[in-house]
Amino acid sequence: MYKTFRPLIYLLTPEQAHHTTIYMLSLAGWFPPATALVRAMYRARKQGPEVDCMGLRFPNPVGMAAGYDKDGLGWRGLAALGFGHIEVGTVTPKAQPGNPKPRVFRLVEDEAVINRMGFPNNGADFLAKKIARGRGNGFVMGVNIGKNKVTPNEKALDDYLILIRKFFPLADYLAINVSSPNTPGLRELQSRKALTDLLGPLSAEVTAACEATGRNVPLVVKLAPDLTDEELDDALDVVTNTGIDGVIISNTTVKRPKLHSHMANEIGGLSGKPLKSLNTEMIRKVVARTGGNLPVIASGGIITPQDAQEKIDAGASLVQVYTGLIYTGPELVKDILNFGLKLK
Ligand SMILES: Cc1cc2nc3c(=O)[nH]c(=O)nc-3n(C[C@H](O)[C@H](O)[C@H](O)COP(=O)(O)O)c2cc1C
Repeated sequence: MYKTFRPLIYLLTPEQAHHTTIYMLSLAGWFPPATALVRAMYRARKQGPEVDCMGLRFPNPVGMAAGYDKDGLGWRGLAALGFGHIEVGTVTPKAQPGNPKPRVFRLVEDEAVINRMGFPNNGADFLAKKIARGRGNGFVMGVNIGKNKVTPNEKALDDYLILIRKFFPLADYLAINVSSPNTPGLRELQSRKALTDLLGPLSAEVTAACEATGRNVPLVVKLAPDLTDEELDDALDVVTNTGIDGVIISNTTVKRPKLHSHMANEIGGLSGKPLKSLNTEMIRKVVARTGGNLPVIASGGIITPQDAQEKIDAGASLVQVYTGLIYTGPELVKDILNFGLKLK
């Protein structure tokens, strides 16, 4: 059905289309008959397979990647589509407008997107209200956190601590974003020294909160696909030494692997099909370097169920989609579940 409407959706700018779909998802989530209809339309024939990962039980391996529901407006509708986990955010402590528009570009010929959004969002208080009733609804709620653009890297820890304290009670897991290419300097936080100074205190904060509350809230970090092998080794050392529970591989790339669209040279992070192999390669490296002992959540170029299986075969425990939804539509979740992913 999505394929029928796709030409109409493409008449809108990518951001208009995004706001429209989030609005529809939020309506579908709030109006119970509409929720039931969406659930019925998108119910997969196969449920599961359930995944036990980082001490959490995921009803299935397929998640909504960060950046789609930045402000927690559409999680009810997304849950009705069948996602096993939904990662809201990236949220920053204070609301910020993001970069000037246009800042999202559809590369249709390449089944790709370039975005330079720069974390536009309504801030932590807004998201906290929107997801206050999110946990415990049959899916795993992740909250992806980032620093405000105006916060210098030396003060980044303060921003992440504010967000961890705010969202620990509301999240099933927390994801630290140090890999968006669209916040100046953010990716420098992935260097050995900066990452140690950041992840050490954040991990200690979450561990203390887990002990105090008796809850298990895993902390994961999302890495860039553009790290050199040496930088990746450094980052993984820090991740394991600081007791981080898992990694999301990966964010968007600033590389431009052979693209056909005239918009290929837009500045920003590239996602979708051209990211797929780079991403799978990175997953393989992470699994090899950590002996398969560090949970990996795959995010990069999943457009078909076979792409999702490729990530699992490479060693990922869970998969996330974003750009695939723009090209295949919401039935992508159902298609992947019906395909029947074979876990390792
Ligand atoms: C328009 C857009 C906005 C995004 N915003 C965020 C974000 O706020 N935080 C984040 O961690 N990733 C963000 N991402 C990256 C996605 O979560 C995902 O990691 C990336 O797009 C690769 O997956 P894909 O190829 O399935 O899209 C964004 C991606 C797109 C296309």
